[in-house]
Amino acid sequence: MTSPTIESILQENRLFPPPAEFSEQAQLKSLEEYQALYERAKANPEAFWAELAEQELHWFQPWEQILDWQPPHARWFVNGKINISYNCLDRHLTTWRRNKAALIWEGEPGDSRTLTYAQLHREVCQFANVLKGLGIKKGDIVGIYMPMIPEAAIAMLACARIGAPHTVVFGGFSAEALRDRLNDGKAKLVITADGGWRKDAIVPLKEQVDRALNNNSAPSVENVLVVQRTKQNISMQPGRDHWWHDLQQGVSANCPAEPLDSEDMLFILYTSGSTGKPKGVVHTTGGYNLYTHVTTKWIFDLRDTDVYWCTADVGWITGHSYIVYGPLSNGATTLMYEGAPRSSNPGCFWDVIEKYGVTIFYTAPTAIRAFIKMGEHLPNARDLSSLRLLGTVGEPINPEAWIWYHRIIGKERCPIVDTWWQTETGGIMITPIPGAIATKPGSATRPFPGILADVVDLNGNPVPASEGGYLVVRHPWPSMMRTVYGDDDRFRRTYWEHIAPVDGQYLYFAGDGARCDADGYFWVMGRVDDVISVAGHRLGTMEIESALVSHPAVAEAAVVGKPDEVKGEEVVAFVILEDAYLPNEDLDKALKKHVVAEIGALARPGQIRFTDALPKTRSGKIMRRLLRSLAAGEEISGDTSTLEDRSVLDKLREGA
Ligand code: PRX
Repeated sequence: MTSPTIESILQENRLFPPPAEFSEQAQLKSLEEYQALYERAKANPEAFWAELAEQELHWFQPWEQILDWQPPHARWFVNGKINISYNCLDRHLTTWRRNKAALIWEGEPGDSRTLTYAQLHREVCQFANVLKGLGIKKGDIVGIYMPMIPEAAIAMLACARIGAPHTVVFGGFSAEALRDRLNDGKAKLVITADGGWRKDAIVPLKEQVDRALNNNSAPSVENVLVVQRTKQNISMQPGRDHWWHDLQQGVSANCPAEPLDSEDMLFILYTSGSTGKPKGVVHTTGGYNLYTHVTTKWIFDLRDTDVYWCTADVGWITGHSYIVYGPLSNGATTLMYEGAPRSSNPGCFWDVIEKYGVTIFYTAPTAIRAFIKMGEHLPNARDLSSLRLLGTVGEPINPEAWIWYHRIIGKERCPIVDTWWQTETGGIMITPIPGAIATKPGSATRPFPGILADVVDLNGNPVPASEGGYLVVRHPWPSMMRTVYGDDDRFRRTYWEHIAPVDGQYLYFAGDGARCDADGYFWVMGRVDDVISVAGHRLGTMEIESALVSHPAVAEAAVVGKPDEVKGEEVVAFVILEDAYLPNEDLDKALKKHVVAEIGALARPGQIRFTDALPKTRSGKIMRRLLRSLAAGEEISGDTSTLEDRSVLDKLREGA
């Protein structure tokens, strides 16, 4: 087993046509059908999306204009009135789906709960009234810092119902990271839990919230709502902190969904970029509802008999779009799991599939690589015959892992959808349509209808087939991010100016390198900026560097990713100490701990390498390319003529 290498991906030429029995029953049944749809959408994207918006969603008031495109700002379904919580809940209540399972929750240790559409609707309405009771109004931002429990989805849908944008912060982020995000959005309220279960231990979420808010360090936050989950002792600050179950007592379950403008903000979700501060990616209501709805329907080929399980956390975009909004908008049964595979229960995922008869399973390559290590006897001992479709997301999947997934989990029967997209895109952009497009291991295959993806050079010119370039999108799409919260300039610079507009046409720059082969299949190679992916979690190297230099012992730091068999990449930090400090094991540990406290466990450096100097250009820029080679233990190749002091490299090598 090896981690994905460009060489192994480039040599991949196996083709897996959709199984005939799958295609026959699928929503989109053939390549011809996909192609016809693709061409129609390409010829007139606006008409394509408008037709779907009318067919698939409930609107309180129709839009006046499909798209208002003032590059790089798009407004979709202008002046239309809609509510995504209504589309996810209310409209199913007048159908037989009223008593269908909307949310199946498998908790730890051994808890479980199922909510029908009627029950989920009731809980969301009640909780929306609780929010109103705390003075939350349309436009107020609400922080959600929760474990994977139904209340997380309920909170999101309740916010959406009253037009209060949510900002979900992954429960693995530290108090510092939470505080930064709450302050950036000026959140008025935080919803959390006393704790959450993570790998046989309790994550003290409320304690972290207290730390984030102490000494009035997030002054916009007026109230904290706490779900009782783990029941350990926590402190509740009178006046500020309230138990969810106390406030929900006796509250009316009547709360009509607010007719919102298509372009009202639905949520902010923070993600890492090349510079230090995480970006608040802004998504709005109408276009996001439409795009996540249609992509879920066609890519996961939803049927009413499906039990659909996406293993992401709701703290990430995958959880937003493909645990909560996309599946519920379609009236599907979505499964939410609080646990994670761990040494005490390595087969837990397969148990969940067997227990609930999961039919669609969507996970990350890093998880698949971990399963390979745990051994195929674990899935082989479970009944996985309910599965009919598999998916992956978050990073390139190496063909070896793809084949294992196909053979051991899919029993060579289930198509695999390798879905490429980003927090910024809101929904899946490049992917197989499982009944229509033959797959090649390691390729996300073809763009979704309506998505005009391309691979170009820095001048925006398409590169020849199979040559590497930058992945771009040529035409706006409904769920594209609208801006960076509070920093529109950064939005322009990051996504729209990196590649200059060609003939007045703006190209969305994704930050990924890719190539497109002669069959029009896309092969995503990974980030071309200073963003790394550790176990599918996106981290900016600058963020980790800032965390390191905020420690008194650190004078300078440079962080790079090192290829890792399971996690994709591991964080390696090169650190120059202040004069008064000497490198030793305690300091190594202290610095790792410091990064965890500043950002979260996901950013913990796998290795810290103390050094006296870093390789820099004459203009003082750190040459990360060289550091990456050093971290990976490779020979330094390529041009080093711009290096200011060559002896630095020798010293770093010796130090290793
Ligand atoms: O580099 C690409 C990688 O993940 C990045 C987006 O990360 P994030 O915003 O956290 O969203 C992850 C879940 C959508 C992309 O720029 N990525 C995502 N999916 C794939 C991928 N790389 C290759 N293949 C994929 N299927």
